[in-house]
Amino acid sequence: MRLEGKVAVVTGGAAGIGEAYSIGMAREGAKVVIADIDEKAGAQLAERINAEGATALFVPTDVSSKADAETMAQRTVDQFGRLDVLVNNASILDAQPVEEITEEMWDRQMAVNAKGTIFCSQAAIPIMKQNKRGKIVNISSIGALAAQPGLCAYHSTKAAIFTITRSFAAELIDWNIQVNAVVPGTTSTGMAERAMRDPAFKKRVVDTIPMGRLGNPQELLGAVLYFSTDDSNYCTGQTLIVDGGVLAIM
Ligand SMILES: NC(=O)c1ccc[n+]([C@@H]2O[C@H](COP(=O)([O-])OP(=O)(O)OC[C@H]3O[C@@H](n4cnc5c(N)ncnc54)[C@H](O)[C@@H]3O)[C@@H](O)[C@H]2O)c1
Repeated sequence: MRLEGKVAVVTGGAAGIGEAYSIGMAREGAKVVIADIDEKAGAQLAERINAEGATALFVPTDVSSKADAETMAQRTVDQFGRLDVLVNNASILDAQPVEEITEEMWDRQMAVNAKGTIFCSQAAIPIMKQNKRGKIVNISSIGALAAQPGLCAYHSTKAAIFTITRSFAAELIDWNIQVNAVVPGTTSTGMAERAMRDPAFKKRVVDTIPMGRLGNPQELLGAVLYFSTDDSNYCTGQTLIVDGGVLAIM
């Protein structure tokens, strides 16, 4: 088990791809903290993981709140005594044409997707520094590298993740804390299905995927595990694209 003895926090870990990370990391031996705004789904998932004989704790968290991020880190240490891995996965997506982006939509997506990554990392980094080791895995999107209509605000938040990842990597290198990013392609989750409500748009998206299908959440887990374990100890500031070949194949 690659995460035996480790404690991992997964933000947005109650549903979608985050759920696959929570379950997969628990099965690799980590004690998993599910930090999610959805109290019902988070509590249910923690119960399911514990019933399987692994260990999970749900901490209700709105990642856009600095106070919630601090509470999440404190409760992790109170319960498990350490925090080794932080997966900054929580995000929201609100699609709209560029002329219709409101200030509120822009601010809310930035607050959850970009500022949430900063706040949760700020809460976790002092604990990792004490241990002189740590792993931060940020989640971006292929949309930060190739545009789709209607997603300017969301994709801007995901582009920020690249800069955040490299900046953190540079600042934390002397503390033995590695910071990397996973870049998912279109993956079948509530978020993706909501964004592709229009069947014609969904067909257009699938037609651009060389593998001819959406990803499934389980297919992102390996990349997150790589960046969460000692396998990636000599790797920092990097991004790993998991997209069915979209960005590599014409
Ligand atoms: N699904 C895709 O096609 C796709 C593609 C590229 C990147 N991504 C990225 O992968 C990650 C997971 O996406 P998903 O499709 O599983 O999303 P999802 O909407 O299915 O799940 C997101 C989870 O985050 C939680 N969440 C939302 N706001 C929160 C907040 N303020 N604080 C804490 N938790 C909050 C939700 O409750 C939910 O459990 C996101 O970072 C997303 O940007 C997804």
